[in-house]
Amino acid sequence: MNLVSTKQILNEAKRKKYAIGAFNVENMEMLKACIESAQYCNSPIIIQVSEKSIEYIGIGLLYSMVNACAFSSTIPIALHLDHAQNMNLIREACEIGFSSVMIDSSEKGFSSNVQDTLKVMEIAKRYNVSVEAELGHVGGKAEEVESMYTPVSRVKKFVAVTQVDFLAVAIGTKHGIYKGSPQLDFQRLKNIYESVDIPLVLHGASGLSDSDIKQCVVGGISKINFATELRRKYTNSIKQVLEEKNELIDPRIYGKVAQKAMSETVIHYINICGSGVEDEC
Ligand code: G3H
Ligand code: ZN
Repeated sequence: MNLVSTKQILNEAKRKKYAIGAFNVENMEMLKACIESAQYCNSPIIIQVSEKSIEYIGIGLLYSMVNACAFSSTIPIALHLDHAQNMNLIREACEIGFSSVMIDSSEKGFSSNVQDTLKVMEIAKRYNVSVEAELGHVGGKAEEVESMYTPVSRVKKFVAVTQVDFLAVAIGTKHGIYKGSPQLDFQRLKNIYESVDIPLVLHGASGLSDSDIKQCVVGGISKINFATELRRKYTNSIKQVLEEKNELIDPRIYGKVAQKAMSETVIHYINICGSGVEDEC
C-alpha cells in the first residue's frame, strides 16, 4: 500500500468513534516495532517524527524507510511531521511525500497562531498534505513551558479561519513524565468537541491511565500521541539486557529485545485506542 492521507483515516476514526495511535519513532527499530504491532492488530497507524528526529535520521532515509514499510504492509500507514516550527522543513516534508504536518505555534498569541497555520495550509494544500495545529498549549517539552488550556470560546473561530484538518487540544495533559497524577478536564473536551466538526488530537499521552485514555476516546479524541513511554520501554530493555550479558556486542540482538519490549506497549495502546480490527489483538 502507499502511504495514506492522515485526514482521511482520522475522519473515519472520528465517524466510527475510535482513536488512531500516533507513535513517535527515532530509529529503524522503533519504526519496525510500531509497524509490526499495527499489522498484528490490523489497525491503521500514524508514524510521526519530530524535527530533531529528522535531523538525526535524515528526511530522505526516514521517508524511504516508512514508505518501504507501507509498501509491504496491508494496513493504512500515515507519516506525520510532529511539532514543526521550521517552515523550510515543513515545505520539504510536503514535497517529499509526508501525509501530514503539524504547525506548532501554540505558544504564540491567537493571531500569530492563525497566521502561521494559514501559511502552512497554503503550502500543504499544494501537495494534498493534511495539517494539524494546536490551540492552547500542551507544556512539558524541553523548555518546561507550562500548559495553557484550550480556550473553548476561540476554537470555532480558529478552525473556521484556518480551515485546519485536525486540532490538538490542551485539556490537562503534558509532554514527558508526569510528576503528580494528571487531572484531565473532560468537560472542556466535550465543549470543544461540540463546537467543531474536525478530528481532535491529544498530546502527552504517555503516563495517562488506561481509563483516562479511553475516556478521551469516548469524549471525541481521534488521534493520540505517544512518545515518552516508547522511549522508556525501548531504552530500559536495552539497559537490562546489557547489564545481564555484559559481553553482548551485537546490536541486532539487543535491537530485537528492544523492539519486542516496545511492541508490547504499542499493542497495548492500540487496544485502548480501539483502532484494531479485533477487540484484543
Ligand atoms: O507529540 C508527541 C506527544 O505529544 C507525545 O507525548 O511524550 O508525553 O507521550 P508523550
Ligand atoms: Zn506533542
